[in-house]
This record gives sequence, structure tokens and C-alpha cells, in this order.
Amino acid sequence: MRSYDPFWERPEVVERFASRPPDDRMVALLSDAPRATRVLDLGCAAGRNTEWLAREGFDVYACDASQAMVAYTRKRLAPWLGEAEAERRVLLCSMDHLAMFETESFDLVVALGIYQQAQSTDEWHRAVAETARVLRAHGRLLVQHFGVGSQPWPDPLRQVEPFVFEASVPGAGMRRFVLLDEATLDAWMAQHGLVPETPTRSTTRPTEEGGFWRNLHALYRKRQ
Ligand SMILES: C[S@@+](CC[C@H](N)C(=O)[O-])C[C@H]1O[C@@H](n2cnc3c(N)ncnc32)[C@H](O)[C@@H]1O
Repeated sequence: MRSYDPFWERPEVVERFASRPPDDRMVALLSDAPRATRVLDLGCAAGRNTEWLAREGFDVYACDASQAMVAYTRKRLAPWLGEAEAERRVLLCSMDHLAMFETESFDLVVALGIYQQAQSTDEWHRAVAETARVLRAHGRLLVQHFGVGSQPWPDPLRQVEPFVFEASVPGAGMRRFVLLDEATLDAWMAQHGLVPETPTRSTTRPTEEGGFWRNLHALYRKRQ
């Protein structure tokens, strides 16, 4: 596992992610789905989506690189699944190394705000290759990804490599992201056998610091 950003271990960051409601697109996508659907919540953070999936009775697994996020998500799952099952299903992982999950074992991977955390485009591709490996043929991938053109903080994001940006973030030091446009996200996903099921679109979300994130929203299906 590569050295990992301690930002995600901070109690206030865990609390911020814990307080968010489950993702609307995920809830809409799964409202009529069979409860036997096996779902991986990749980069689950504090488990807002994992808990909804467990409560609804889906066959849910989750993973994240942050020990604090994994601990919090397990605690949220325990009342629904029991402590032992919560520990078995919520795991510490690196998104580009999912050896704990079998090949072609998931019907859906929920990947919201995760691939953009890659520190290089190589890591991004390794992560998506691992997602494609664990998805069943015709399985789906729900994605939210930060978009190029985002201006979240007073210190502008600086491009350090094609598609890789850095900024000095107030209170959090230097942070790095992979930022993509819609066409590149679709083209790179296609390299891993993942084709759009709905047109990829973008929205803009304001930040507390007076800036904004562009968010890309996409849904892919794995070709056979
Ligand atoms: C923006 S949050 C994800 C939000 C979450 N999916 C949700 O919808 O609430 C990013 C998460 O990615 C995790 N993360 C960062 N780098 C990672 C990596 N290389 N592998 C796995 N998880 C990583 C962080 O610990 C953090 O919990």
C-alpha cells in the first residue's frame, strides 16, 4: 500500500463525512433492485452509503484506506449485521489492490469521490483495473469524480502532470487529486471495459472557502 494521506484519519473529517445523508443516485439506482445484489462501497469513508445498503438488506461489502473510517463504518453496521459480520464486510484496503475480493464477485461497485484520490494517473488506472476485475460481466459502476476546472480553495489548483493537480489546502497542507473532464473519464473507463450506461454529466458544488468543485456523475456497465 502506498503512503497514505493522514487527512482521512482526522476525527473532524470522519465526523464531516459521517453526517452526510446517503447518496441520492445510489438510492434511486437500487430502490427496485433485488436484495441479493452484491455491492462494494469502494472508499466508503464514514459509511453513509454502506449503512444504507446494510439497512436495506443488500449483500454489502466496503473498504477504505483510513483506519478511522473503517472503524466508524464497522460501528455503524454492527446494529444491522452484528459486530463479527461488520468486521468481515468492512475492510482496510488500497483501491488499487483489492486482493481480498474475488474476481467477478460484485454486481455493483459504488465509487463516489474515490478515484480522484489517486496520486498519479498510473494509480488511477490500477484502481479502475481492480474495480473492473471484481465486477461481474454486465456489473455496474456508479462514479462521482472531481472535474477539471474546479476552484475549491483560495490557492488555485496547480497542474503538476497531465490530469494531476495540487493545492495547499487551509489546515490540511498540500493535497493532490486527479481531475478529469467527462470525455476523458469515459475514454479511460472504456480502456478497462466499462461503457457508459447513461450520459456522464457534471454539476457544481460550492465549498465553504468560497470556491467550487465540479463533480462528474457517471454510471458504467462492464462489457462481457
Ligand atoms: C471523498 S471520501 C469518499 C466518500 C464516500 N465514498 C461517501 O460517499 O461518503 C474519500 C475516501 O477515500 C479514501 N481513500 C483515499 N485514498 C484511498 C486509497 N488509495 N484507497 C482506498 N481508499 C482511499 C479516504 O480514506 C476517504 O475515506
